[in-house]
Formats: sequence, structure tokens, C-alpha cells
Amino acid sequence: MRTLPTRTTVGIVGGGPAGLLLARLLHRAGVDCVVLESRDRAYVEQRQRAGILEQGTVDALRACGAADRLDREGLVHDGVELRWDRRGHRIDFPSLTGGRKVWVYAQTEVVKDLIALQLADGAPLLFEAQVTAVTGADTGRPVVHYRHEGVERTLECDYVVGCDGFHGVVRQAIPDGELRTFERVYPYSWFGILADVPPSCDELIYAHSPRGFALHSMRSPTVSRLYLQVPNGTDPAAWTDEQIWDELEARFAIDGDWKLERGPITQKAVLPMRSFVTEPMRWGRVLLAGDAAHIVPPTGAKGLNLAASDVIVLARAFTALARTGSTAELDAYSDTCLRRVWRAEHFSWFMTTTLHTAPGQSEFDTRLQLSQLDRIASSPHAAAELAENYAGLPVF
Ligand code: FAD
Ligand code: DHB
Repeated sequence: MRTLPTRTTVGIVGGGPAGLLLARLLHRAGVDCVVLESRDRAYVEQRQRAGILEQGTVDALRACGAADRLDREGLVHDGVELRWDRRGHRIDFPSLTGGRKVWVYAQTEVVKDLIALQLADGAPLLFEAQVTAVTGADTGRPVVHYRHEGVERTLECDYVVGCDGFHGVVRQAIPDGELRTFERVYPYSWFGILADVPPSCDELIYAHSPRGFALHSMRSPTVSRLYLQVPNGTDPAAWTDEQIWDELEARFAIDGDWKLERGPITQKAVLPMRSFVTEPMRWGRVLLAGDAAHIVPPTGAKGLNLAASDVIVLARAFTALARTGSTAELDAYSDTCLRRVWRAEHFSWFMTTTLHTAPGQSEFDTRLQLSQLDRIASSPHAAAELAENYAGLPVF
């Protein structure tokens, strides 16, 4: 049996996009780290989630040599369409943001690329390694406890980074009272489908409709990704494919000759929506990054990008520590990230509440939403505010 590491500089819990990108950046900078991921490789590579990458995320992937396939296969998008009242309005990113744009490249592909590179380099990345506890967070030497192939093991670390998502164990290892949390749960969910049909649009469409929100996205020139607002607790199996396409068609309806193409639906899932922030994102030698520290509702596609910007800051801080011995950047990590986190929280909340129809929503609130959408369509300043946030603010 191969020897498993028992000590490292940075112990990373979770091999989602945050953990993998952090590991890749540290590995390239020569900082020793180990990733422990509870699921198997196939599960992690196939988990269908986000699809939009901001410039800063793409730059980081390029900088660590993980963007070859992204540069070949990713779709560059210069804008999105907003739809309401049976009409559409395009937001043009480059002209409103000084040249910024976004990439359509699925989270599954980012994860596959990072895993392949780390394994090819022989970097320590363990699948089916379930972390059960982190002890000694307040001492100089935290220890990660995990189970692998039925054996209980430990990993001694200089620092532990919780990249283990919203339900992870690392945040729970921090004593009550050391963190403040802020939360909002939304009274609706997203029903996401993947369909084997070419997208019916060149750019994403975010639609406000009296029947509820809908989003048309894509994964490739032959695969479409679409979302419908549905009530919380909706069972995806209760909808036939025809009902899903009929509802999407009704919500995207527009004057003119646009047509929604239908095709075989290959995946269906319902996702609840939540805003959540932990402050600070560090306790002693334990740091939190990505969904372990904050959640945004998906409207506006900030979740994955926020996870990426956290670990970009963290990788720089660990690299500075290794090179100069200074903890200054590490000490500033939480404050540096939280400024960007709250901006993304606001934007995601704004996109969500402007485009969705809450159960029992008053006509007054609907008129406010429509007025805001009209404002975005008529004012370059209002459009620029949306475009800057959507295309992504510079990563510090
Ligand atoms: P995660 O991707 O959650 O990764 C955490 C990793 O930690 C996982 O691999 C998990 O298996 C592992 N882990 C957990 N506990 C342990 C443990 N005890 N031991 C070891 N490993 C552990 N964002 C968008 O922008 N658009 C979307 O459409 C979108 N859809 C989403 C759908 C779903 C169902 C979810 C949950 C999120 C979605 N997001 C979306 C958000 C986006 O995917 C996340 O922001 C992003 O995945 C965050 O990456 P992360 O690495 O921080 O966390
Ligand atoms: C996708 C998800 C989002 O939340 C979003 O705002 C745009 C696109 C997607 O999965 O493609």
C-alpha cells in the first residue's frame, strides 16, 4: 500500500473547485499541501453545478497552467439578455466595463482539469478520505482526523483550510461564539435541467415573467442548461419533460420569432437558494474558503467565482509566508475577502429579488421589479452597474 502523508504545511479539506484551485496554486508555488476529499473522483467530476467563469477566475486558471482546454473549448460571452414584458434587452459587457467578458465553461470541466494536473504531478490528493474532525485549531499545530479505506488517520498541519462546502466539518470545528453568521433563505428554488439540444440563444437569457423566473444557459454548442423557478420542496420527478419545456417556453415568450428548441432531458435537480456569510473567515490556524464560508443564491453565477477569488488571495498569502516568513497577508485574508464577498452577496440578492416572483408577491413589488428592469434598459449607468458586477470586479 502507498504511504499516506502524515504532516503538511497546508491541509486542505474538500476537493471541490476551491480546494483544488488552492492546491494547484500552492503546488505551483512550491508550498507543500494535501487535499482530502470525501467523495470518489467520478462523483466530484460529474457533480453538475455552476457554468460561468469571470475574467479573474480564468486568469488564475491560466496562471497555474489549468486553462488549456478552457481556452480551446470555453465559450466567450460578451453579454447577457434580460427578458421581461415579452421583450428582451441585451447587456453588453465590454462596452460597459472597459472590455471585460465571461466564459461559459462548466464547473465539472474546471474540476476535471485541476484533478488531472495535480495527479499527473504526483501532488497529494486523496479521494474517499472523509474528514471527521479538526482538533487543535487554537494551537500552533492543528490536526485533521479522517477515515480512508476503513482506517482512521491523522494529518498534522501548520494551517488547515476548510474548502468543504456549506455542510462541511471545518466550520463546525470552530467553537460557538467565535464566528458570526448572517443568513437569508429564499421562498423558492431552482429546477435545473441539462438537455441534449443546441442552445436556442448565443448568450444567456435571464427572464422575469408573471409565471416566475427562467434562465437559459448552456454547456457547449450541443448541450443546453436551463433553470425554472419552482416552489421549495418541488419533486423533480413530478414534472414530465413536456411540462418542463412547456413551462420554459411560456416564461421565455417574447414578441417576434424567437423559438425555444426542445431535446432529450438528461438530468433534473432542484436546488434551494440561500444567502449566508461567516465572519471572520479564519480562527487561529483554521481558515475557511468558498462555500464553507459563504453561499450566494445562484442568480448571477457568483458562487464558483467567489470561491476562486478566496483561494487566489489565500494562495498568495501562503506563498508570501513561505518566501518571507511574513503572516501579514494571511492576517488580512478575512477582511480582504469579505469586502468582495459582501459585494457578491448584494449583487446575487439583487439579481434574485429583481427577477423572481415570491409566493403571494404584491402587484406593488412586481411594479418595482419592472421599473428596475426598465431603468437598466434605459440608463447606461444602471446597465453598467449590472455589467460590472456580472462580469466580475477585479480580484484585488
Ligand atoms: P463545493 O463545490 O461544495 O466543494 C466542497 C467539497 O468538499 C466537495 O467536493 C465535498 O465532497 C467535500 N467535502 C465536504 N465535506 C467533507 C468532509 N467532511 N471531508 C472531506 N471532504 C468533504 N453556482 C453558480 O454560480 N451557478 C450555479 O448554477 C450553481 N449551482 C449549484 C448547484 C448546487 C447543488 C450547489 C450545492 C451549488 C451550486 N452553485 C452554483 C454554487 C457553486 O457550485 C459553488 O459556489 C462552488 O461549488 C463552491 O466551491 P467549493 O469548492 O467552495 O465547494
Ligand atoms: C448558470 C448558472 C447560474 O447561476 C447563472 O446565473 C448563469 C449560468 C449555469 O449553470 O450555466
